[in-house]
Amino acid sequence: MKKQIILGVLYVLLFTSCSGDESIVLINVDGASNEVTVNPSTQINLKEKAKFKIGAAVKVADLQGDVNYSNAVRTHYSQITAEYEMKMANIWSSSTSYNWTSSDYLVNYAKNNNMEVHGHTLIWYNSFPDWFKNAKYDSIVFESKVKIYITDVVGRYKGKIKSWDVVNEVFADGGALREEGIIKTVFKDPIGFYGRCFQYARAADPDAKLFYNDYSVVLDSGKRAAMKNMVKKFKAKGYPIDGLGDQFHYGNDTNKQTIISGFLDLASTGLLLHISELDIKVNVNKSDSYVFTDAETQKQAATYKYIVEMYEALPVNQKFAITTWGVTDKYTWLTGWWHPKEYPLLLDNNYNKKPAYQGFLNGLK
Ligand code: G3I
Repeated sequence: MKKQIILGVLYVLLFTSCSGDESIVLINVDGASNEVTVNPSTQINLKEKAKFKIGAAVKVADLQGDVNYSNAVRTHYSQITAEYEMKMANIWSSSTSYNWTSSDYLVNYAKNNNMEVHGHTLIWYNSFPDWFKNAKYDSIVFESKVKIYITDVVGRYKGKIKSWDVVNEVFADGGALREEGIIKTVFKDPIGFYGRCFQYARAADPDAKLFYNDYSVVLDSGKRAAMKNMVKKFKAKGYPIDGLGDQFHYGNDTNKQTIISGFLDLASTGLLLHISELDIKVNVNKSDSYVFTDAETQKQAATYKYIVEMYEALPVNQKFAITTWGVTDKYTWLTGWWHPKEYPLLLDNNYNKKPAYQGFLNGLK
């Protein structure tokens, strides 16, 4: 079927060939022609092809300050996660006040752009506000105040935020309970406290999906065992949990078989699984002389492809979302935390689709 589109001084004749690729013949007014083959799959965007949510961690300042960033979020993603603005330290300003400005902005942005919001995160050792930590509450008062916080936050966004990371990163490498933070110092049974936090969230919004989120889960069998044991304890106590998140901050060099076997083990819980903070490091040796060559971009594309294919192999009732931790290499957290020469995401600094984007797309069924 031919379509003729007149674009200014150019005639564009669109031929749909039998291979399914579209060849576009550009003819200028002098009659010179130039045929360009465009594979339709490169035209479809992630959120249009995916049968589950495609999320991105976003920041209000970037949504407000960079129109290309906001356009990219709307174009490619169907869900947003606050990279930091929905954490306790950013909402819970004092014992008598909350700051809803950023979280309200993000919820409204998502609503206005027909996107979902994944709430990140209610309880994280790294994000208790200083005023709270300095109060040195005993376990009774500590928990009563946290219950009010969870009830107020989840309640405010009831029906608007469809899922929450209720608790984030409580296990250290190997699976022991993390020593940092105040939880371990306040509670003799931290797991019981976490379970009750899931109860408080469920009571505040019975329809929200409630997740436990951590990193290196599919690589660290000890941490995975500790998580599975916590899920068992939750179920025995009647504490609600709907899903588990592995952040997936991995690299081009992460062992593929280890990832896949760990992921299958995690899937054996039968819970929803969220690849919750996906980014694929390429400068794995933190080299100052690193060059993101074409070969490196293709390796990254292959890594994204097999991770997405692995996720697609899940039973449909365990699929929730794949979230990239950021939108563009331009603003990735890794250039600060890992190395300035790092290019972990799907869009480059100019919001162009990288081979990694195509790899992700090719992994989708
Ligand atoms: O934007 C403000 C800026 O206006 C202010 O001047 C500056 C100094 O206070 O802070 C800036 O905000 C910083 C924000 O990142 C944006 O860059 C916050 O201080 C800083 O705490 C925040 O760090 C975030 C970190 O979590 C802590 O919340 C990172 O962006 C975010 O990528 C990181 O994400 C975590 C996940 O939540 C959990 N998994 C690991 C992941 C990476 O550490």
